[in-house]
Amino acid sequence: MSDIEHLVEQATAEFSGISDAAALEQAKARYLGKSGSVTELLKGLGKLDPEERKSTGAAINSAKDRIEQALNARRDALRHAALEMQLKAEALDITLPGRGMSTGGLHPVTRTLERIEALFRSIGFDVADGPEIEDDFHNFTALNTPENHPARSMHDTFYLENAPGLLLRTHTSPIQVRYMETHKPPIRIIAPGRVYRVDSDATHSPMFHQVEGLWIDEDVSFADLKGVFTDFLRNFFEKPDLRTRFRPSFFPFTEPSAEIDMSCVFCNGNGCRVCSHTGWLEIAGSGMVHPNVLKAVGIDSEKYIGFAFGMGPDRLTMLRYGVNDLRLFFEGDLRFLSQFR
Ligand code: DAH
Repeated sequence: MSDIEHLVEQATAEFSGISDAAALEQAKARYLGKSGSVTELLKGLGKLDPEERKSTGAAINSAKDRIEQALNARRDALRHAALEMQLKAEALDITLPGRGMSTGGLHPVTRTLERIEALFRSIGFDVADGPEIEDDFHNFTALNTPENHPARSMHDTFYLENAPGLLLRTHTSPIQVRYMETHKPPIRIIAPGRVYRVDSDATHSPMFHQVEGLWIDEDVSFADLKGVFTDFLRNFFEKPDLRTRFRPSFFPFTEPSAEIDMSCVFCNGNGCRVCSHTGWLEIAGSGMVHPNVLKAVGIDSEKYIGFAFGMGPDRLTMLRYGVNDLRLFFEGDLRFLSQFR
């Protein structure tokens, strides 16, 4: 075999043994580069006589073509192999089940608040709001609870450090005061919101919700309070035969004051574990707004009269859905919350 043919075989064998693109380019240089073997052979042509130069030149050029072909074939093979590898590495199994999007839902207490708002709006009540950081005046003093009044001790209050006179509101009643400061009778509102007290066990949370109610006009009576509240509870629990009872009580901002009980929604008043076998559940505080409260906000207490109430929507939610631990509402555990979607 001539040297030229041998070179072709050697180059082809070498190329096919290389599996790295950079190494292949270096091997190419050894044959076809400026001082590569084929180039050297071409340089030698000048020394040959014309006849020989022609045939040898043709042989070298043919060898060069074949070496280039072998090189290109190997380049293609390497590129193909690299692509195969990449595709394998980035493989997507489109038959896997998707992760999916789960739907969110309203918090059970939010559901209750929206339900309460809708029921009261339907009988002409507006929804009012107020700040959770309150001052002493709105939370206590204007509600006929002056400093040193013993009733202040009924509320275990969170006071703000370095902010004398400021506190986390202990009830939604200050919203009554704020609303009456800025609106003239007739007034018909409910005021839902978060309230805070130093308290924590299965039925008390340091943060909980209240819904305040207030109706002030020229001739609002205790009978209206009974009618409005009883009707509300019957609609809320979808129990037309639900009964209420008003027990005499004390609140500084109402006179007379009453605690509202409703017949137990679990046993219809026959007595069960939920109602401690009394047949009744305590559901709200209420009363006729004390004249001193009207005076504190500049409303004529000779002309105007009305009722107020404050209830616990967290408790209503527990009763409506049969939840027995208040803390479940505020722990943010999705295993619990997602049951209400
Ligand atoms: N604010 C009272 C409390 O949190 C509840 C209450 C009682 C509100 C009687 C009222 C009311 O508006 O008339 O203990």
